[in-house]
Amino acid sequence: MTTWCRALVTGASSGIGQAFARRLARDGADLVVVARRTERLERLAGELRERHGVAVEVVTADLTDRSALARVEARASARADPIDLLVNNAGAATYGPFAALDPAQMTDEIALNVIAVVRLPRAGLPGMLSRRRGGVVNVSSVSSMVVLPTLTVYSASKSFVTVFSEGLAEEVHGTGVSVLAVCPGTTPTESGPRMGLGNARGPFLTSPDHVADVALRALGRGKVVVVPGPVNDLLVRGSRVVPRSLLRRGMGLAARLTAPRGDASSG
Ligand SMILES: NC(=O)c1ccc[n+]([C@@H]2O[C@H](COP(=O)([O-])OP(=O)(O)OC[C@H]3O[C@@H](n4cnc5c(N)ncnc54)[C@H](OP(=O)(O)O)[C@@H]3O)[C@@H](O)[C@H]2O)c1
Repeated sequence: MTTWCRALVTGASSGIGQAFARRLARDGADLVVVARRTERLERLAGELRERHGVAVEVVTADLTDRSALARVEARASARADPIDLLVNNAGAATYGPFAALDPAQMTDEIALNVIAVVRLPRAGLPGMLSRRRGGVVNVSSVSSMVVLPTLTVYSASKSFVTVFSEGLAEEVHGTGVSVLAVCPGTTPTESGPRMGLGNARGPFLTSPDHVADVALRALGRGKVVVVPGPVNDLLVRGSRVVPRSLLRRGMGLAARLTAPRGDASSG
């Protein structure tokens, strides 16, 4: 397993991002934790410093805001205390019938799930390449492969993340830098209820800790795309042999059967 010196984790104040931060600190990596909620980040930082003796920098930033994103880009590219692992985890979803979604929230969703996910590796990669050492984990989703109607903009943004990761991984192949897209299925976190997944049950659920663990192991093995959880992995493999039109219809039917009427939300 690769040992990382210093990781920058976006969306570290809860859920999967926090699981990445905890796991990396346990492995001895110093951290830069990024999100909007400073108090949450400070609490996490204090706990990880005390428990694991690692250095933790807290960066409060709304990554949909250009100037805040520029501050995080500057940290990702800094030569002093360089970042050797970037975990592009922060993400948001609008949920509900597309025609009822708030255009401003959709714009923020794309800014966070797409623009920030592209800008941060663009800032961090030149240093990683010159040091011939580095990693980028982009948190995508099963929905990048299996279209989810009523999470349509979200699915499309995550398709971007998976394809972007694959292209980037190939570009840096053999340079000492690895790129991975991790594609979780339903993972109970704060965002679940906002994505219409509040009551999700079943064998396809994965924990945030499991997602972080699978991703870091896969990155160390040089994998480019990984789907945590055997049931989700099987679902994705199965979806490749089903005609796309049938898959679309099936997912559309599932969305209609499970959606609360007229609901549109974001988070
Ligand atoms: N949970 C699932 O079922 C699931 C499945 C597949 C993929 N994913 C992906 O996993 C990633 C993490 O989601 P999660 O489930 O762990 O959700 P979560 O618990 O709601 O965490 C989202 C994180 O992103 C941060 N964030 C949100 N908007 C931000 C912004 N504008 N600027 C900076 N940080 C922001 C939040 O922190 P603040 O609020 O403090 O800013 C929080 O730390 C996302 O990319 C999501 O799409 C989740």
